[in-house]
Amino acid sequence: MSLPTNRRILSGMRSTNPKLHIGNYEGALRNWVELQNSGFEMFCMVADWHALTTMFENPQDVSVNAREVAKDYIAAGIDPAKSVVFIQSHVKEHAEFHLLLSMVTPLGWLERTPTYKEKVLDLRKSLVQKLYSRISELIEADSATKLREEIESIHADDGGLASAAVGLSDSLTNAALSLQHDFTRFEQLLRECEIGFGKLDTILERKDPSSVSPRLSQAMVETSLGIHELRTILDSEQEVSIPYGLLGYPVLQTADILLYRPHGVPVGRDQAPHLEIGNDIARRFNNLYNVEVFEPYKYMIPEDENRAKLPGLDMRKMSKSYDNCIYLSDTPDETAAKIKSAFTTPTKMRKTDPGIPEGCAVCQYLKLYSPDWERQWAEDVAGERGCMQSKQELTEVINEFFRPMRERRAALDDATIEDILRDGEARARAVAAETMESVRQAMGLR
Ligand code: TRP
Repeated sequence: MSLPTNRRILSGMRSTNPKLHIGNYEGALRNWVELQNSGFEMFCMVADWHALTTMFENPQDVSVNAREVAKDYIAAGIDPAKSVVFIQSHVKEHAEFHLLLSMVTPLGWLERTPTYKEKVLDLRKSLVQKLYSRISELIEADSATKLREEIESIHADDGGLASAAVGLSDSLTNAALSLQHDFTRFEQLLRECEIGFGKLDTILERKDPSSVSPRLSQAMVETSLGIHELRTILDSEQEVSIPYGLLGYPVLQTADILLYRPHGVPVGRDQAPHLEIGNDIARRFNNLYNVEVFEPYKYMIPEDENRAKLPGLDMRKMSKSYDNCIYLSDTPDETAAKIKSAFTTPTKMRKTDPGIPEGCAVCQYLKLYSPDWERQWAEDVAGERGCMQSKQELTEVINEFFRPMRERRAALDDATIEDILRDGEARARAVAAETMESVRQAMGLR
């Protein structure tokens, strides 16, 4: 690959967890290391402010995690002598630029962002679930007063929520009174009607359940649940649960990127919508102020399907919340134990039963880490090997692959990391400050 004139690359990961998993490695980090080793100037950021969009209730973990994530970068092969490793919040230019970009970003672009919509839906889903279980518990206790006390005590330690809680407890009380039966039954009926929570939301939007599902409207009559009550409950909870910062997530990410005016941004596939907004915002900035401060950057997303979307040990998406991850920092024994219980072809009971490697987590990992995977797959399909053998062989190759990373990580102490981050901060700020000069100038700010 011949190098472009602008060799700068910026990327980052959120410090929501203290450990990166091999899905993070395959989806992004591995690319960073390859780019570094082929002569690009890497800026590897730990996005601690982004982590706060979902972790604002326990912010103390965010900074501890940030150091651990930085260790994983270095363990994976990012060399702090060549590449810049830094923490987002250490370079205050990100905050100033985020604020200025928030003025030029149309609200509609943010509301349409798929990741934002998903988060809102997830939140709503968990709210509905929480409300269901709470209300059904309380209805069993059969006391509206108790309900009010409960709700108020949940929010008692949060001053900002106190007044919202009063309103909420009123509507809950009303809902509870009008319910008379229990929510569990309602939830069960929803399931019978095959109505997901997303659809329920649409129904609430239309206020007419019978137009979508006669069975649903019947269920609602049966449980005496008013659509209006449910809507009120959800709205008032949602209003206090989604922080402004979450909507601005892609604006902050754009600030992170544009500050370094990079040639490209290597990220996992889930980040593609954010990268697109970034180039749109850059174009809008240039147009508004009639400048050419920003050039479009490239989206560097792994093409290899297997690497871009590495499944978890149970074949679902690899995610801490599913408890199906192999972490970069796992020991060989931990890795062996995890692989031992990994999902394989469910219909392959005996060695001689044919396997289906496409749906088997162990085979998926073999494809990535074993030079011999084609033979191993063929034997699996032909019923010439059992899953235990595949698991053992996988454990060996995976532990061998990650051994150097684990050794590097073990050798990193906290003081060394702080030195690296201090140095990274200075190198990052030098570039960021220069961009901010051009930005302020373009906007006529002195
Ligand atoms: N949103 C990214 C993630 O969830 C993290 C991130 C923040 C990032 N700022 C960035 C990635 C800038 C690339 C460029 O992993």
